[in-house]
Amino acid sequence: MRILRTIAEVRLAVGAARREGGSVGLVPTMGAFHEGHLSLMRRAREQNDLVVVSLFVNPTQFGANEDLGAYPRDEARDARLAEAEGVDILFAPAASEIYPDGFATNIHVAGVTDVLDGASRGPHHFDGVATVVTKLFGIVRPDVAYFGQKDAQQVLVVRRVVRDLDLDVRIDACPIVREPDGLAMSSRNVYLDADARARATALNRALDAAASAFEEGERDADSILSAAHRVLADAGIAPEYLELRDAETLQPVARVEADALLAVAAHVGAARLIDNHLLSVLRTRDAS
Ligand code: PAF
Repeated sequence: MRILRTIAEVRLAVGAARREGGSVGLVPTMGAFHEGHLSLMRRAREQNDLVVVSLFVNPTQFGANEDLGAYPRDEARDARLAEAEGVDILFAPAASEIYPDGFATNIHVAGVTDVLDGASRGPHHFDGVATVVTKLFGIVRPDVAYFGQKDAQQVLVVRRVVRDLDLDVRIDACPIVREPDGLAMSSRNVYLDADARARATALNRALDAAASAFEEGERDADSILSAAHRVLADAGIAPEYLELRDAETLQPVARVEADALLAVAAHVGAARLIDNHLLSVLRTRDAS
């Protein structure tokens, strides 16, 4: 595996693979790898001739009061893990390589960014994500880019950028990877002390409770959400948001008649965590 720092080096390496007719997979990351990231790398490895992983803690997607300074960083460990997954190139640029002096472009996706994490964290968050991901697509020009479904809203934002700007890349959203007790894997789980770690399992249990109500035939959004609220309240967690929204448009839903995203964000101890379940109307119909 090669660790590359500059855009020019990545272009050269990817260009050489392309000239030989190879397909290119990109896994954009901010490092602090866990099994979720590794599952994306494995999928990219299975499906492509060249696998590029970007490791860049993107400052523009963090708010002033967020954890940019504290965000876990261990490039040597990440490099070992990526290499063990057969990654070809780890692109780990300095901030000045991505945002040189005079950088003045911002990609803003309207609509799907106004709610959930966009509302909680502010518009800069998805602007930062959309802008850096578009840059990475321009640098690597991947055939496929792999994202985790845990950041379901991020996936919708990236898909919208790709559609609206006619970018020639397929977005592959990969399943959420969970700890044995159901907690969704996240780089931010390292912030949890023992008490918060135990309470954090309530997020997935709350989503499970709501999903069970849905699977048993409940369609009223408030009733479905009540089941989740009860589990969170029992764990002493006040969610930043707990919402049911249309899975494609993120419009609010009063009744679940089409696929819906059940999404939660909450501060648990020192960590802000997010999680989600997809409520699939088709899957429920098939099962009945
Ligand atoms: O999901 C992440 O780790 C980041 O938001 C991403 C996609 C790498 C952009 O910085």
